[in-house]
Amino acid sequence: METLQWKKKLIPYEQAVRELEVKFQNIAHQYQVLNQHSLIELVTGRVKTISSILEKARKKDIPLSAISEKIEDIAGIRIICQFVEDIDKVVHLIRERNGKDLWIVEEKDYIENTKASGYRSYHIIIQYPVYTAIGEKKVLAEIQIRTLAMNFWAIIEHSLQYKYKQNIPKEISKRLLNAAEAAFKLDKEMSMIRNEIIEAQELFQLKSDIIADIVKNIENLHGTGNLTEAEDIQRQFLKLWREGNIEKLKKFNQQLDMIVQIYDVQSLS
Ligand code: GTP
Ligand code: MG
Repeated sequence: METLQWKKKLIPYEQAVRELEVKFQNIAHQYQVLNQHSLIELVTGRVKTISSILEKARKKDIPLSAISEKIEDIAGIRIICQFVEDIDKVVHLIRERNGKDLWIVEEKDYIENTKASGYRSYHIIIQYPVYTAIGEKKVLAEIQIRTLAMNFWAIIEHSLQYKYKQNIPKEISKRLLNAAEAAFKLDKEMSMIRNEIIEAQELFQLKSDIIADIVKNIENLHGTGNLTEAEDIQRQFLKLWREGNIEKLKKFNQQLDMIVQIYDVQSLS
């Protein structure tokens, strides 16, 4: 095929990559604005070069006329997350759009089914409609979703593959496999640290909610005119508060709820 024809053929893919990049970058930005933690760290996209399209077609025995149906990654989008858990969330976001602005063709879970090389990522192949100056076309696109650690590994491994032209020496591929496991361990460690931070934050929130509730209950008791009882309860509360045991504070508040209720009923009758 001559160059001009190639250029024309790649137009819909270039548009698809640009549109998909913008769509996921917007989501990344909105998560940053709305949440404390960013769901998507980075979005990148690229159109496969003519020479690598030709090379892949040759390697896989794909005739030039079948390239657009058989090569799924002429348009490629990469979504990088901080944590493994975020990958699931991104996958759900994409599934929610299925049948709306994109059509899922296939999902490949190379995290659950790690490749022999050590490669991990979640791939979603989609069909994506674009409306270009030369008409409407549905193109295939490959979305790769992975963590920063998985991306680090994949980039290094890919550049070594390139250097050694697919004939990576045995010792090196063994090291790469070890590095892939180390990267995955890093992901798991980071997830654990993150979960612990989230738990600590939740516990802190729970504690301050209970304390606010207790203080309100004591104020109500004051309001009913039972001053001696209110002061007695206040003393008990201060003791528990110094102790800092959340379960005890919770129980104390439940009892306080009942006392306040009884006074409320009495004041009604
Ligand atoms: P190709 O691997 O692209 O020829 O197509 P395929 O039909 O085998 O699809 P597959 O899902 O295996 O791979 C799709 C893409 O995932 C590749 O183009 C790479 O970008 C990436 N990928 C897959 N395996 C590896 C790997 O072992 N190392 C790295 N660095 N990337 C990989
Ligand atoms: Mg492959």
